[in-house]
Amino acid sequence: MIDIAKLVAKYSLVSDQVSKQEITIVLSQLQQVLSSGVVGDVVELGCYKGTTSLFLARLLKECLSNKKLWLYDSFQGLPEKSPKDDVQLGDSFQVGELAATKAEVLRNFAHANLPRPIIKKGWFSDLTDADLPPEICFAYLDGDYYDSIVDSFRLCQNKLTPGAVVVVDDYTNPQLPGVAIAVDEWRRCNSVKISRFEIRDSLAVIQLVV
Ligand SMILES: C[S@@+](CC[C@H](N)C(=O)[O-])C[C@H]1O[C@@H](n2cnc3c(N)ncnc32)[C@H](O)[C@@H]1O
Repeated sequence: MIDIAKLVAKYSLVSDQVSKQEITIVLSQLQQVLSSGVVGDVVELGCYKGTTSLFLARLLKECLSNKKLWLYDSFQGLPEKSPKDDVQLGDSFQVGELAATKAEVLRNFAHANLPRPIIKKGWFSDLTDADLPPEICFAYLDGDYYDSIVDSFRLCQNKLTPGAVVVVDDYTNPQLPGVAIAVDEWRRCNSVKISRFEIRDSLAVIQLVV
């Protein structure tokens, strides 16, 4: 087993969008999926500059995994909020904020000497089945808003394999209330069989039945 705390401590973050504590939780979940042999690739919807993505790639590399890493972002920053996201506390989240570039993410990977990820640029609402890998063992959803998380679930849902784990950032963030609404709606939907639901720090961790 890889010492996740040591791996996270070793590298600096390329943005302030995620804490080392959150990355530690995300990687621990990925490690569990890898060690239980869950089938499929790893996806992150809402990668921004690639802060978490770099750590996902580092763990895959350390574990000598041949799973591919797929990253998604508009690279135009945040879209419009829906009424479900609209709270005064969240006023600092504005359209177009958190814009990065695909080239920047690829540069970060090259500097870190990590394998080049598959990166798809686009609004989640415009992506289709064909943009996702055929099978997903681990999905990290970090799109901040209700519609972005609903679209992320729509894209991943039919690709998640038995035992797959979905981690959603900002589940407990009062500035982004749409995230929890989207997660809870998805959990209630009949077609998904969930074996584990946990809240760790600000993250929701969801595991599908094996
Ligand atoms: C909080 S940042 C992601 C941070 C990243 N996961 C990390 O670890 O640093 C949210 C990202 O989601 C993207 N995003 C949000 N909603 C989106 C949507 N509907 N379609 C495409 N990208 C979206 C934004 O462009 C932004 O880069």
